[in-house]
Amino acid sequence: MKILVTGGTGYIGSHTAVELQNKGYEVLILDNLSNSTADVADKIGLITGKKPDFENVDLCDKASLHGYFRKNKDIEAVIHFAAFKAVGESVEKPLMYYMNNVTGMINLLDEMLKNNIANIVYSSSCTVYGEADKLPVSEESPVKKAESPYGFTKQIGEQMLTDISKVNDFHSVILRYFNPAGAHDSSLIGELPSGIPNNLVPYITQTAIGKREVLTVNGNDYDTPDGTNIRDYIHVVDLAKAHISALERMLSKKSEEKSEIFNLGTGRGNSVMEVINAFEEATGIKVNYRIGPRRSGDVVSIYSDTERANKILGWKAERDLKNMMLTSWNWQKAIN
Ligand code: WQD
Repeated sequence: MKILVTGGTGYIGSHTAVELQNKGYEVLILDNLSNSTADVADKIGLITGKKPDFENVDLCDKASLHGYFRKNKDIEAVIHFAAFKAVGESVEKPLMYYMNNVTGMINLLDEMLKNNIANIVYSSSCTVYGEADKLPVSEESPVKKAESPYGFTKQIGEQMLTDISKVNDFHSVILRYFNPAGAHDSSLIGELPSGIPNNLVPYITQTAIGKREVLTVNGNDYDTPDGTNIRDYIHVVDLAKAHISALERMLSKKSEEKSEIFNLGTGRGNSVMEVINAFEEATGIKVNYRIGPRRSGDVVSIYSDTERANKILGWKAERDLKNMMLTSWNWQKAIN
């Protein structure tokens, strides 16, 4: 069965491609390589024994996308990752984010409808919950006004899918990721850094290896036990596996609604200091850090209610923070 993975050479996309192939699916990858490299497809091949079909196509290039779907008629479902994902950059370049994330997705959905491809798994984000009123956040928690253009593009994507499902034979699973971390055990794929990392874990590993001088902890005066922000870090391989569960539920027609939503987290919240400590314990390496001011736009705490994903998808995150730190560190050493 052929599954198209957009953004399949990216961080979560590449790990999902591996899990799909491990389960016997034939994987087709589309990626414009804006934040990844073509050799990731080779690396996926090294891990699974079969290189996925890869084409460099930009979802915003309507003509190329149309040609691609004309050529590949027997796609059963799409897993849609391809998008820009840097919150801060989206504030600086809003139109770039709306064009890429929204226009690209519109073009993709248009081709899917025209070609009678009725199943999609969509990468969304816990960012849609904003500063939640109640923790942990369940899928019923209200979606708050987006704090960034990036967050808004994820909300628009979700809304497009639910609207399309109302009037078409079209099925979607919306996955709201918490904070992905870690890398594949092989250290052949992981998160490729582009410039100075925004996210905590790549910043920690780059500081530990000497690429960055010091990690700044963005505030320690929050209303949390140690004063630093709390997030739900989830291993990227666990996250990848959830996509297979979601896909299989949809394809076997077990979905109760045409558009379903699941949170993907571990249910555990860890503070920034706990993550740094976990890294130090897992690797034996001290991280040079200093306490800095708060980062604007950061919510104080967020972690996931995992009951729905556990019960309905039959999926549970298995790896702990230590494993995320170890595999991230091995990946950092491999790419240095
Ligand atoms: C985690 C914590 C920082 C860097 C973002 C997106 C979200 C989702 C995941 C995709 C925060 C602190 C960080 C540093 C630090 N992505 N930190 N020093 O902001 O929770 O979530 O990625 O959808 O939508 O917003 O992740 O890794 O940037 O930050 O102290 O150098 O680490 O302030 O408390 P975030 P993050």
